[in-house]
Amino acid sequence: MHPRTDSDKYRRLKTPTFSIARTAAFCRRVLFGAGENGRVGDMMQHVMTTYGRQAIAFSRGDGSWLWDLEGKRYLDCVSGVAVTGVGHAHPRLVTAIAAQAGRAMHVSNLYEIPEQEQLAVRLCALAGMDSAFFCNSGCEANEAAIKLARLYGHQKGVESPAIIVMEKAFHGRTIATLSATGSRKVQAGFEPLLTGFVRVPYDDLPALEQVAAVNPNIVAVLVEPVQGESGVQVPEDGYIPHLRRICDEKGWLLMLDEVQTGMARTGKWFAHQHLGIKPDVMSLAKGLGNGFPIGACLARGAAAHVFTPGTHGSTFGGNPLGCVSALTTLAIIDDEGLVERAGRIGQKIREGIAKSLAGTAGVKEIRGKGLMIGIELDKPCGDLVKRGFEAGLLINVTADTVVRLLPPLNLKDAEVHTLIEGVAGLIKAFLNAGAATAVAR
Ligand SMILES: Cc1ncc(COP(=O)(O)O)c(C=O)c1O
Repeated sequence: MHPRTDSDKYRRLKTPTFSIARTAAFCRRVLFGAGENGRVGDMMQHVMTTYGRQAIAFSRGDGSWLWDLEGKRYLDCVSGVAVTGVGHAHPRLVTAIAAQAGRAMHVSNLYEIPEQEQLAVRLCALAGMDSAFFCNSGCEANEAAIKLARLYGHQKGVESPAIIVMEKAFHGRTIATLSATGSRKVQAGFEPLLTGFVRVPYDDLPALEQVAAVNPNIVAVLVEPVQGESGVQVPEDGYIPHLRRICDEKGWLLMLDEVQTGMARTGKWFAHQHLGIKPDVMSLAKGLGNGFPIGACLARGAAAHVFTPGTHGSTFGGNPLGCVSALTTLAIIDDEGLVERAGRIGQKIREGIAKSLAGTAGVKEIRGKGLMIGIELDKPCGDLVKRGFEAGLLINVTADTVVRLLPPLNLKDAEVHTLIEGVAGLIKAFLNAGAATAVAR
């Protein structure tokens, strides 16, 4: 009953070899070869440069907070990009993972895995779906959806099945999912891309209807209910329900990428539940295991029975450790009332920031759903991330001009206040500094 007990016990267990001070010293001296004076910015020399990393590293987290190697504390308003929804080192999750690791981390999908069936039942019940395939990430969940749609097309006699995808969409970085992604930045250099995708503008029904009228190869639509990477773009309420109607008329699969919007992030278990419709296929990952890598592709109706033995698979997908992580994360979200909380505090944060920034020149729009929040400025604002470090705040900037906030679902009331004041203050200072420079010139 005492929430701190398990976590403390776990930390004590780790203390002899992995104290925070020792980890920090180890990182500086041994791992990064930087000597006593080594800087955090010198790390990661032997890791491929797929990320433009910030010069900061963290040694531990607790709830909504992360501590860097020097012991400075930061309010985590990013959650590992919509992953750690129940916060860092949640005692119940730590205990469940440790216990399962002590029983069995992995057994092959050649055998029945009771934890996997339990997770499939739970997710299907929450989403009104019929079956689940488990994998390890969001792109793999979307790969499964893309393969499923193609197989569904072939089973219907469509020789060259095609999927409608959206401009500015983000679905992952494997060859299939980057081909589905609507960003040249993500695709450039990886041509030839996979064919079989037809792209239309997001939130534009006439454009989609034009394609629907002329292309007999379409078998599915793949779409994010709220586009995340492109700057938290929330479509008109009628958009996804209208897509549902078109898919029903045409016999296409409506496939929702809920990798970022799922797991209570928007104030419902899944974002489409705000709209009173169900998809045929839905991909999940990110917040599903709160940091333990697990993804899922759920399907309903005819789509639930498309895969047969040998048509798809994943060695690690749905192993007992991953499934226990997800089952426990789901139980925490449920027991702590975090679905409702995400909606409520999300609105409070949007309203609080809007109030604080009222009249500030350079703020174009504050938008979002639940705890998926975007603040669009009228100029590139990547610098805000570093300014955030100085202020003890972790924030994200996406699409160059949008401050994206994805805090934990269990952010405490006092932390909500800190976030509002901190983020609004950062943005005001940034925009005012820009204005002062412009005047000085
Ligand atoms: C909507 C969406 N789909 C898919 C992905 C890819 O997920 P992963 O990085 O786990 O492959 C992301 C990641 O940001 C995402 O936001």
